[in-house]
Order: sequence, then structure tokens, then C-alpha cells
Amino acid sequence: MTTTSQQTDQKPELIDLHPPAADMEQLVRIGLNRCPRQLPAWFLYDEEGSRLFDRICEQPEYSLTRTEIALLKSCAAEIAAAIGEGVIVEFGAGSAQKVGPLLNAIHPAAYVALDISAEHLGKATTALQQRHPEVPMLGICCDHSTLTAVPEHPLLRNQRRIGFFPGSSLGNFEQHDAVHLLRHFKQLLKGGPLLLGLDQPKSEVRLEAAYNDAAGISAAFARNLLHRLNADLGANFDPQCFQYQARWQADQQRVQMALISSCDQVIRIADDRWTFRCDEPLITEYSVKYSPERAVALAQLAGWRWVRRWHDPDDDLSLHLLEPTD
Ligand SMILES: C[S@@+](CC[C@H](N)C(=O)[O-])C[C@H]1O[C@@H](n2cnc3c(N)ncnc32)[C@H](O)[C@@H]1O
Repeated sequence: MTTTSQQTDQKPELIDLHPPAADMEQLVRIGLNRCPRQLPAWFLYDEEGSRLFDRICEQPEYSLTRTEIALLKSCAAEIAAAIGEGVIVEFGAGSAQKVGPLLNAIHPAAYVALDISAEHLGKATTALQQRHPEVPMLGICCDHSTLTAVPEHPLLRNQRRIGFFPGSSLGNFEQHDAVHLLRHFKQLLKGGPLLLGLDQPKSEVRLEAAYNDAAGISAAFARNLLHRLNADLGANFDPQCFQYQARWQADQQRVQMALISSCDQVIRIADDRWTFRCDEPLITEYSVKYSPERAVALAQLAGWRWVRRWHDPDDDLSLHLLEPTD
């Protein structure tokens, strides 16, 4: 009994490698000089952004999370048999709600969660540790797209790495950057496999509703980006002067989410001034949808061999198992 209560009180270690404010300012400069203007999607995830994302996942229009959790539960044993042993390294873990079935089926040597949102990551790994006291855990707050190597840590020493990237988070990246990210994950995983969750194309009505829910949570999530820039970089956005929009772009097979300036306005961010014209968009994120065929082609371009996929009964989303080609 004593051992159990000691284990459940465990708080996983958190390594904080969040980019400093100066790097964020530079990324904002680069993003606002793009045409159309666009910031890296990870800027959406401060503590409040992560909280709002969790609320999006509960909205009736947004089925991705429920579907992926159900699929993981139903296929966990098959996935475990196909994927083998090691440490699970999850990219963009968020609330770490999806890895549970894999922890039960794979019995990994450890679980390492990477996420850009430090406070949320701390809470998520602490809660997960309580549910799985038998699995050693570590949180790493970082931008996984620029992380040069997973920090040396005893939990990872001499262990095979099993990558887990659910939530269709790869869809935030345009094709060229998605290939680059998958290549990068191959390096971080040092020869281990990757389980990649990807949402698939579906009707325009369904997709636009999923990313613009009736309760307005997706809109609040996008506007929170402006609150975050005000708080962290001393900007002076008035979030009410931007309208939220989510549009399916069939030619690109993606949903584009943007904040549209509702008037001509000049915004101060640190020492810079930026003019936004009326109707000018600031793209907050994309969500690219991947058919199974496109997913296989993407994996091959990035140096991964596609092994197999699992999908839900409606074939709305897939979990793809990839092995490095070399
Ligand atoms: C779409 S949510 C998915 C969360 C969770 N994996 C799921 O499937 O529900 C994306 C998550 O990735 C994190 N994230 C986004 N970009 C990131 C980056 N460049 N580096 C690390 N984490 C990132 C966010 O903080 C967020 O928790």
C-alpha cells in the first residue's frame, strides 16, 4: 500500500527548452512578413490555448479525438504486436489522453512526452503518471520541429525509441515542411518506428463545422493567439478587431484557419509596427487532410517505409505504422 501511494504521488520530471522571447519575436517578424501572414501553429498553445484545445476536442462537431481514442483502444494489442518494445516518445502530447491504451498494451520501458506548452505538459504528465504509476515518465517542453536531439536522459539510455504522433498534428504543416518534420523525427527516433495519426478528407460541410464549432471555442482558440502575443511579446492587438474563419481549400486538401482584420489597423509588437488592411488574413493554422495513398507517398518522400494502417469503422482517420528505410 505504501509503495502504491508513493508511486501515485510521483511528479514526472520536466525539462524546459521553450524558445526564449527573443526567438519568438524573430519568428513573429518572419511570419508577419510572409504573404499571406502566418505564424507557426505552436504559437496557439500557451496554457490558455492548450485548455481551449481540450474544449474543442469535446465539441460535437469535432469528432477526431473521440474517433482516434476509440481506434487506439480497439487496436492497441495489434499495434503492440507490430511495434515491439522500447520507450514511447510522443510528439505534441497535449493532455496525453491518447497514449493510455498503448501504455497498457506495449508496457514500455518509459514514456517521454514532448510539447511546447510547459504548464499544460506538467499537468498532463502528472495526471497520466497517477493513472500509470508503473511507467517511468518524463516531460520535455520544446519546439519538436527545431529540437536538435532528444536530451540525454537515463530513461532513454540504450532504449529503442517508439515515436507516437497522433491528433493529425502533422496536418499543421504544408507539404514541404511536413516532409522535413518526418525526416527530423526519423533522426530524433534513431532508427525506431513511428505511429502517425492522420485525419482524412471528408465533406466540406463537416470539416468547416469541425473547425468552427457552434459554441465558438475554435474562434476563441484562434483569438487567444492575439492575447498571447499581447502578454508574451508586449503587442497591442484588439482580438475583437479580427474575425475568425475556417475554410476548406479543396485544391490543397486542407482547412485554412485565419483571423481576418475587420478594419485598417496598425499593431505594435515589441519595437515593430505592422499595418493590417481591412479583410487581410493572419493564418493561424492549416489542417491538411491525408488520404491513405497520400500518407504513404508522404512517408516515402521523408525516408519512411509504410508498414500498415489501422482505421476506424467509418474510415475517417488512420493510424499509420512507419519504419525508417535505412
Ligand atoms: C492538435 S494538438 C494535439 C494534442 C494531442 N496530441 C492530441 O492528439 O489530442 C497539438 C499539440 O502539439 C503541441 N505542439 C504544436 N506544435 C508543436 C511543436 N512545434 N513542438 C512541440 N509541441 C507542439 C501543442 O501544444 C498541442 O498540445
